[in-house]
Amino acid sequence: MPKASNGSLPAMSADWWVRDDLRREDGRLIFAGQDAAALADQYDRPLFVYSGARIRANLDRLRGALAASGCDHRLYYAMKCNRFPPLLRMLAETGAIGIDICSPDELDLAIASGIPAVNISFTGTSVANRDLDRLLAEPDLHINCDSLSQIRRIGERTPGRAIGIRVNPGYGTGYGDNERLSYAGERTSKFGIYREQWAEALALAAAHRLTITTIHFHVGCGYLSQQLDAWGRAVGAAADFLADLPDARTVNIGGGLGLPHKAGDTPLDLDRWAAIIGRHFGGRGLTVAVEPGDYLVKDAGLLLLSVVGVERKRDTLFVAVDGGFNLHPEPAHYGLPCEPVACVVADPDRTAWQPVTLAGNVNEALDLWAEDHPMPPLAEGDRIALINAGGYGSAMSSNHCMRGDFFELLI
Ligand SMILES: Cc1ncc(COP(=O)(O)O)c(C=O)c1O
Repeated sequence: MPKASNGSLPAMSADWWVRDDLRREDGRLIFAGQDAAALADQYDRPLFVYSGARIRANLDRLRGALAASGCDHRLYYAMKCNRFPPLLRMLAETGAIGIDICSPDELDLAIASGIPAVNISFTGTSVANRDLDRLLAEPDLHINCDSLSQIRRIGERTPGRAIGIRVNPGYGTGYGDNERLSYAGERTSKFGIYREQWAEALALAAAHRLTITTIHFHVGCGYLSQQLDAWGRAVGAAADFLADLPDARTVNIGGGLGLPHKAGDTPLDLDRWAAIIGRHFGGRGLTVAVEPGDYLVKDAGLLLLSVVGVERKRDTLFVAVDGGFNLHPEPAHYGLPCEPVACVVADPDRTAWQPVTLAGNVNEALDLWAEDHPMPPLAEGDRIALINAGGYGSAMSSNHCMRGDFFELLI
């Protein structure tokens, strides 16, 4: 890292997350043109703030890459990632993207947000009969089945319907090669139909005259360029299933596209990603569907929290904040880093920074946002931003300890 002439680190040089719409001005964090601390002051409780412009930019970048793959393509936003209604309505208004859903309630919300059923794709797991009855009532909804039982029960209810099948190619990958984020790796997962079940799946579909128009796979979450070779192997193995599907028109490659979470992570190389897609599916008359969640919204969101105490206990300096892991459970569940950033930094050369442990307000030992994380001197009332909080934050939040209160804002 280059040193400034006075020997100290240049101002904010370690802020790997800086970009045009997320940066510091005179030590203050500016997000989507707004002063983060001022926003936090205005609401004075945990606040998720999302940038519509960043979401649209992420969408445009992805569309550009898909166009370069040379394949016909469709996008479905995975609303499990963030279902804040204004955000869904904004995506609907772009007219450029449908919605990927995984439950009947998500179907209702997607339709209420302005997405017609014909632009909605369902891929769910452990689906009950009461779920199927609601989903099948929507004739234009596309359904990908991830179990033999789902195929059979759909066949019994609506023989002759077009369906997709989620396959499990037996290869997966995820952020940092984290096994918990791999949905189709070595460990047997609940997702998708394995090769060993394939003949039975085809027989069940044939018995009920179900036309298999789509093959679907989603093999993990958060993959970056380092994981693209592994992802490509999974794509190749999934593509092999097509040989038995004369009616397949669409290959849905799931979501899982990742973004940097810590210093040293490099953004996903979309050119390489698109080349893998083109190599496997180009020139075959197929439409490639992608259902990203995180890639569109995660880095478009901050969670703003307030410092409620700063206290050394034994060898650790704790900074206590007014929101716990229940508001954004993904880092605790999956071990995904979620970088805390001070909204106002007085000493840009970082001489007074020290490692702190950032603790939430839930009575659970795992309720720590970060450990030994370098932060500037902080005092009660200061504001903290957790970056990359736009995906699987509010959507996964709970009211554990009745600490579930927060605001959401789309700017
Ligand atoms: C079937 C399916 N599609 C898409 C997604 C979206 O994944 P991501 O947000 O990592 O893009 C998920 C997430 O779990 C999923 O299960």
